[in-house]
Amino acid sequence: MVVLGEKVRCIDLETKKEIPKRTIEIHWSEKSAEKGSYAHFMMKEIMEQKTTIAETINQNETVIKKVADEIKNAFGTYLIGCGTAGKVCLTASYLFSRVAKKHVNAVFGSEFGSHKHFLTKDSLLIAVSQSGETADTLEAMEIAKEKGCKLITIVNVESSTMARMADIVIPIKVGPEKAVASTKATTAQLTVLTQIAYALAGKLNEGKQLLIAAASQINDMLNPRYEDHIKELAEKIKGVESMYIIGKDVNYPMALEAAIKLQEVSYIHAEGFAGGELKHGPIALITEGTPVIAIVANDETKKDILSNAMEVKARGGYIIGVSPETSEIFDYWIKVPDAGAASPIVNIIPIQILAYHLSVIRQNNPDMPRNLAKSVTVK
Ligand code: AGP
Repeated sequence: MVVLGEKVRCIDLETKKEIPKRTIEIHWSEKSAEKGSYAHFMMKEIMEQKTTIAETINQNETVIKKVADEIKNAFGTYLIGCGTAGKVCLTASYLFSRVAKKHVNAVFGSEFGSHKHFLTKDSLLIAVSQSGETADTLEAMEIAKEKGCKLITIVNVESSTMARMADIVIPIKVGPEKAVASTKATTAQLTVLTQIAYALAGKLNEGKQLLIAAASQINDMLNPRYEDHIKELAEKIKGVESMYIIGKDVNYPMALEAAIKLQEVSYIHAEGFAGGELKHGPIALITEGTPVIAIVANDETKKDILSNAMEVKARGGYIIGVSPETSEIFDYWIKVPDAGAASPIVNIIPIQILAYHLSVIRQNNPDMPRNLAKSVTVK
C-alpha cells in the first residue's frame, strides 16, 4: 500500500500494477449498531424484521434475473452455508423445487469438500452468509473457484471476503446484525432466495407481491401483545430438559433452524425433525409433557403434519402449534399469518422470540451465548 498525501493506492507486489479500487456504499447508520431502548441486540434485531424484509425485497431486478439465468444454465447449482445460513439453503432447495421445478443442491460449507468431484467449470456455487467471513463457506468457494465455477454470494457484509471473491453479489441490506443468533439476516436471505426462485419460474413480480404481503403481515404481527403471548409460553416451558420441532417441506429446514435458535440461546436440548420421520425413531423420545412445536403451513402439507402432531399428543406430548389456524390438537397456539410460499419467513419469527425469552428467563445472555462467536473464521 502506498500513501501519497491523502490518497491511498494499492499495488500488487508481484505485477507492480495498481489494484483498482472497488467502491461500496454502506447504508448502515451508527444508530443501527446501538441497542436503543432494547435490553438486548437479539430482540432489537427480531423487531427490526418489521422493516428489513420489505427493504430486502427492494433488490436490483436485473441482478435477480441474471442469477436466475445463471441457475437455469448451470451444470448443477450448489447453495452453500453454515449453521442458520445452511438451513436457509436447504429451505431454498425446497422452494426452488416447489416454485420453479428446479433441482438445486444445498450443502453445508463444512461438507462441501466431498462434493467437489461433481464440479465442472459450468457448475454454479451460491454462498449464503451474514458475515461473509465463515471459514467453511469460504473454503467451499475456494474449491469451486479452483474448478473454474462461477461464484455468487448472498451476504450482509458487503466489504467481506465472500463479497470480494464472488462474481455476483446480492446484498441483503439489513444493517449490522450484532447478536450471535441470526434473526433478521435469516429472513432477509430467505426473501432474496424466494425472489430468485420466482424469477427462475418467470414470475418475479408474483414473488415480489407475495413477499410484500408477508412483510406487511409481519409488521402487524410484531406487536407487544404477540410478544407477551410467546413470553407466557416461555414461562410455562422454561424448566424442560428437551424439546422438539417438527415441520414438512419448506418448513422442515425451518424446524432445524428453530432447533439451532433454541439451542444457542436457551441451552435447552432442542432438535428438529421432518414430521414424517418421527415414527422411524424420534417418537421414542416423547414422554408426558415433552414440548413439541409443530410448524403447520396452510397448504397441502397441513394434513400430514397435524397427523404427526397427533401421534406425539397421543404419547403425552405438549403440542405448540405455529400456524395460521388453530387446531384442537394444539395445547398452545401461536398464530402466524398465512403467507403462502413465504411461510418459512413468517414461521421462524415467533420461534426466534420464544428462544429469546427462554434465554432471558433462564438468565442467559442471548447476545453472547456461551462457546459461540458471531463469525466462525476457523475451520
Ligand atoms: C446463527 O444463529 C448462528 N450463530 C450460526 O449458525 C451462523 O448462522 C453460522 O455460523 C453462519 O454464519 P454466517 O451467516 O456469518 O456465514
